[in-house]
Amino acid sequence: MKKQWWHEMTAYQIYPKSFCDSNGDGIGDLPGIISKLDYLKDLGVDIIWLSPIYVSPLADQGYDIADYRQIDPRFGTMEDMDRLLEEAHKRGLYILMDLVVNHCSDEHEWFKKACEDPDGKYGKFFYLADVKEGEPLPCNWRSYFGGPVWDKLPGHEDKYYLHVFHKKQPDLNWENPDLREEVYDMINWWLDKGLDGFRLDAIINIKKALPFKNYEPDRDDGLCSVHHQLHEAVGVGHFLREMRDRTFRPHNALTVGEVFNEKPEELPDFIGDDGYFSSMYDFSGTVFGQSQKGWQAYQDITPEDYKHVIFKTQAEVADIGFISNIIENHDEPRGVSRYIPEGDQSVTSKKCLATTYFYLKGLPWIYQGQELGMENLKITSIDEVDDISSIDAYQVALDAGCSPKDALHLIEKYGRDNARTPFQWNDKENAGFTDGTPWLRINPNYKEINLAAEENDPDSVFAHYKKLSALRKSDEYKDALVYGDLIPYLPEKENLIAYYRKGEDHTMLILSNFQNAQCLVPLPKPVKAVVLNNLSDAVIQDNEILLGGYQSVVLELSE
Ligand code: GLC
Ligand code: CA
Repeated sequence: MKKQWWHEMTAYQIYPKSFCDSNGDGIGDLPGIISKLDYLKDLGVDIIWLSPIYVSPLADQGYDIADYRQIDPRFGTMEDMDRLLEEAHKRGLYILMDLVVNHCSDEHEWFKKACEDPDGKYGKFFYLADVKEGEPLPCNWRSYFGGPVWDKLPGHEDKYYLHVFHKKQPDLNWENPDLREEVYDMINWWLDKGLDGFRLDAIINIKKALPFKNYEPDRDDGLCSVHHQLHEAVGVGHFLREMRDRTFRPHNALTVGEVFNEKPEELPDFIGDDGYFSSMYDFSGTVFGQSQKGWQAYQDITPEDYKHVIFKTQAEVADIGFISNIIENHDEPRGVSRYIPEGDQSVTSKKCLATTYFYLKGLPWIYQGQELGMENLKITSIDEVDDISSIDAYQVALDAGCSPKDALHLIEKYGRDNARTPFQWNDKENAGFTDGTPWLRINPNYKEINLAAEENDPDSVFAHYKKLSALRKSDEYKDALVYGDLIPYLPEKENLIAYYRKGEDHTMLILSNFQNAQCLVPLPKPVKAVVLNNLSDAVIQDNEILLGGYQSVVLELSE
């Protein structure tokens, strides 16, 4: 693998709507983000990805774009965006935007024109189908947010359009070269402006298995998950390569793909030295235990399962490329609520999880609030829920026989609002996020979990994240912690997640005891230094270390 300018960096995801509100309308915005750049710099961040801020009806919180070249007034102006780029670059920070081009909004002018003239130029930007009254739809796929992927084209009784996500997110037809030209032009326009790259939303969906056909239904609704066709769709590489060559590569842009369902044998194509993207996320922990039947059929992930999936990815990626490591994002529950067994969440266990994933080989990502140890949100009624996918999943669970109480509990565990509650800056009103009424409930635990409380506390989760980042990029240890090989250590030892990072000059051993009980671990070599520890002591005797509950250490071993 060739070294890249971003390998030593720390990346951070901002969900703009919930980060910092500068004008009291209850919605986070670009001036709010600009006011926190120094905070991010201090944390050790180098790369920032912004979830969508383009003009949008916000049916899916901005992942439904009505104008790719304008900032939604709720988030600010284009001048604010230019200022953000300038202020970020001044501080040595890089900015990525979200590239959402599998679909646009039904309020985008392309779609409006397609409705006016389905046989004209813009009709061909979408997947349209003639379906007469009483005839079956072109296929029985179920959209990611529930219901059939086909809806009536507004203004036409006998025409339908495809949307694999919400009906306000019509899919763009990538088979049409005119559409691709428009997309590349837009990407280049942003990169010419000085943007540093993109996170590529739902990108694997741009290729459909055609012609449309039915698959075996996987629920009583007679529909089947979109995954069946994704599995059969071939040729996405053609589009991805063309996009890379026409846009990202000439700009040396950083791109990170949101790719589920990739096959290990395709890793070189996706993130190898000549790959379609710079990096892509490891979602193996995210998807563990999921079921097409719905959230009621999901299975919890234990520390053993977590260890298994991260080591599997690490072995598959090896030296092919640089994967992006996460424990949460805006679509997922909070990492500390998911990967730490219920009831064990504490400052110590949160740091333990942080150390474990941060030093995996690849680019470490922090999702806003993760650095404070923010947790999932308790809910008492479905009326409190904003996320469209949770609302669908709630109904699916009820239909499958869950009680309303159990169905709500599923949303508490898996819902997307968990990560979308506003950032907890302090213990003042609305957690310091806004002077107005926040668009989404603040997690009531902000009184204890907030930046002001953690900022000057050397033992806080926040302080730990600062250390993690600083140590990884330090001149002393980066040969091992960034570039070194990852080799699992004692993978069979239950509730221990341990691995070496072996660099040219240093061998590090990262040990994390994922349980509320002590664990005696043999050491393969004498310890030269304990370079990071989430407890005050490390009990090392002869060639053993006694780890306390959820203790996690980074050891430098002697050669
Ligand atoms: C991605 C986004 C998610 C969005 C979906 C449709 O998965 O992360 O938030 O709902 O794509 O754009
Ligand atoms: Ca605002």
